[in-house]
Amino acid sequence: MATSQEPVIVGFLCNWCSYAGADSAGTGRMVQPTNVRIIRVPCSGRVNPRFILRAFQRGADGVLVSGCHPNDCHYSTGNFFARRRLLLLKRYLEYLGIEPARFETHWVSASEGQKWAEVVRSMAERVKALGPSPKLPSLL
Ligand code: FES
Repeated sequence: MATSQEPVIVGFLCNWCSYAGADSAGTGRMVQPTNVRIIRVPCSGRVNPRFILRAFQRGADGVLVSGCHPNDCHYSTGNFFARRRLLLLKRYLEYLGIEPARFETHWVSASEGQKWAEVVRSMAERVKALGPSPKLPSLL
């Protein structure tokens, strides 16, 4: 369990690739920080940008969206939609005063437990260095 000084990162993971990758990192006993609170979604394309804004409003220090690699999406084009949408969101977050490094998108397949562990490690270090996130006011 993370201490109160540890950053809280909310991770939206697609069921088919990234969630399975995180699961394989866990079952493979790979060393990784415990900062990420995982929310399993059917596809990265299901992640509404409002989910991310809401996470920051509720005190998340970082948000991570992870899905299948391009051309591997189980719903064909979900991750392409996610990629475009989340790229715009990253700019919007900066406009709202959230450092861009607090939000990341990654593509991790089910067999990439090692990559997942590395993504979590690097993001946790980066967010910890930034300190607590400014809490977004409730605009929605
Ligand atoms: Fe994994 Fe679409 S099913 S990103």
